[in-house]
Amino acid sequence: MNVLVTGGAGYIGSIICDQLLAEGHRVVVIDNLSKGYRDALAAEAVLVEADLLDTAAVSETLKRHQVEAVIHMAASSLVGESMSQPAKYYRNNLWATLGLLEAMAYSSISSMVFSSTAAVYGNPEKQPIEEHDPTVPTNPYGETKLAVERALHWYSVAHRLQYVALRYFNAAGATDTRGERHSPETHLIPLVLDAAENGSKVAVFGDDYPTHDGSCVRDYIHVSDLARAHVMALTSLTEKRTSATFNLGCGQGYSVREVIDAAQRVTGRSIKVEIQPRRAGDPAVLVASSTKIRESLGWIPKFELLDEIVASAWIWKQKFKPSAARYSESQHVR
Ligand SMILES: NC(=O)c1ccc[n+]([C@@H]2O[C@H](COP(=O)([O-])OP(=O)(O)OC[C@H]3O[C@@H](n4cnc5c(N)ncnc54)[C@H](O)[C@@H]3O)[C@@H](O)[C@H]2O)c1
Repeated sequence: MNVLVTGGAGYIGSIICDQLLAEGHRVVVIDNLSKGYRDALAAEAVLVEADLLDTAAVSETLKRHQVEAVIHMAASSLVGESMSQPAKYYRNNLWATLGLLEAMAYSSISSMVFSSTAAVYGNPEKQPIEEHDPTVPTNPYGETKLAVERALHWYSVAHRLQYVALRYFNAAGATDTRGERHSPETHLIPLVLDAAENGSKVAVFGDDYPTHDGSCVRDYIHVSDLARAHVMALTSLTEKRTSATFNLGCGQGYSVREVIDAAQRVTGRSIKVEIQPRRAGDPAVLVASSTKIRESLGWIPKFELLDEIVASAWIWKQKFKPSAARYSESQHVR
């Protein structure tokens, strides 16, 4: 298929592009490179450097590349920033998506896999979280992702769109060639590995949560397992033509302290910790029930051990050297 990946130059998107290409799909990426990197993208993928809010560029891309399905990853995704700049999140996450959906409807493209988030649940009442549990986001980031999920439903009614919304828990780890380099980095594993590398302190926000060691517990999913779920969702959409919403986590929780311990084992270095006050809106535990996606798509994570996930990120970090030379401009034709 000809697949458009929005945000394909980002951390997760670039690895999804690799897997789509390996499966024989043709990949076109729209990315404004606000957070993504040219050299994160496989040479076989076509990069259209454009903003998703530029509806003319989006429509033109859909037509020119005869796009048949869309994996929609492009978004702003910093929870703290969303609290101080809600308009940015409504514009970039919701408004931009509505423009994309309109362009898809106009071009009769009816399949979308959407990057949603565990943040749609807010402070869940029970663990592990199931897809039918209440969705009560506690920040504009989660709110705008949930608004897109609702819009997808109404587009499916109005325009026969079929979609899979994947509510990711904590994406982590790296492949041999691609890994996480957000700026600013807010994710725990890269921050802990930075601390292992340069001897800085890693902040632990709260040590008095009702968890086994007092620190927050999260569900970490390896980025290649996460990417594989997108390819499976796309295949299922084209074969079964049924919309669905799935959690995407491993169903196993690890505390912040357990992540730090794992990083110490993997790197062989000791990591300094600084206990700081709790952050507003951080739930004590967020763990996915992944039963639905396992049963519906047959998805099973290959990386379930925290040490393996952390080790993959560490190996990538050791060998990653930012280099424009790895990117060949001529291979990315708009
Ligand atoms: N990383 C996680 O743990 C996690 C968890 C839950 C959900 N998600 C969602 O997964 C998606 C990808 O996450 P990521 O960690 O790879 O983020 P990322 O920031 O690395 O990638 C996002 C990409 O989208 C691009 N982009 C943003 N706004 C754009 C716009 N208006 N037009 C064109 N391109 C634009 C950025 O340049 C970037 O390359 C996001 O939608 C995010 O909300 C991520």
